[in-house]
Amino acid sequence: MIAIYPGSFDPITLGHLDIIQRGSRLFDEVIVAVLRNPNKVPLFSVPQRLEQIRLATKHLSNVEVDSFDGLTVNYAQQRKAQVILRGLRAISDFEVELQMAHTNKTLSTQIETVFLATSNEYSFLSSSVVKEIARFGGSVDHLVPPLIALDIYKCYNHKYPIATPIATEAIPQITSTESPPERFPKQEV
Ligand code: PNS
Repeated sequence: MIAIYPGSFDPITLGHLDIIQRGSRLFDEVIVAVLRNPNKVPLFSVPQRLEQIRLATKHLSNVEVDSFDGLTVNYAQQRKAQVILRGLRAISDFEVELQMAHTNKTLSTQIETVFLATSNEYSFLSSSVVKEIARFGGSVDHLVPPLIALDIYKCYNHKYPIATPIATEAIPQITSTESPPERFPKQEV
């Protein structure tokens, strides 16, 4: 069974990664699908987000990363996916997500939405929270994969590295004082 996991992923967080990893154990294939949304001004371009997600999921052999525009159900049908996968963090998500699932059902009865409850430690986490912390100079090392944290710091012109308030063993801590190699050009934000 093929599932698509659609979203903005601007940027991908550890909460998204949690859903992708758990989804990859449930489905034969998970397609992470980045919406090309002309109505939003993103922090990262679609090609940048695709590269970030590919790097973050390269250890998952049944995960593919792609972009799409238009309706999610049309993209799902085009990719022969039977499932739209979404994460649920809180009741506030539930209202929006239920409306989206019902709307999608009116557009295609063939495609089911499957919700995974986000793991507890990521229940507060969103791309917007990550951007807000970084904008005001805080560390996001504990919220996004390490390479993506570096991309975010570059966007906000932070000095590298930023002191991390939380020490976790799961996330490698940055100790070097040298700047990392440039992967993306700096953006004005
Ligand atoms: O990461 P996001 O921004 O919460 O993802 C929202 C997304 C991309 C899943 C949703 O906006 C979407 O499916 N957009 C495509 C347009 C569409 O299919 N709309 C009908 C469902 S409301």
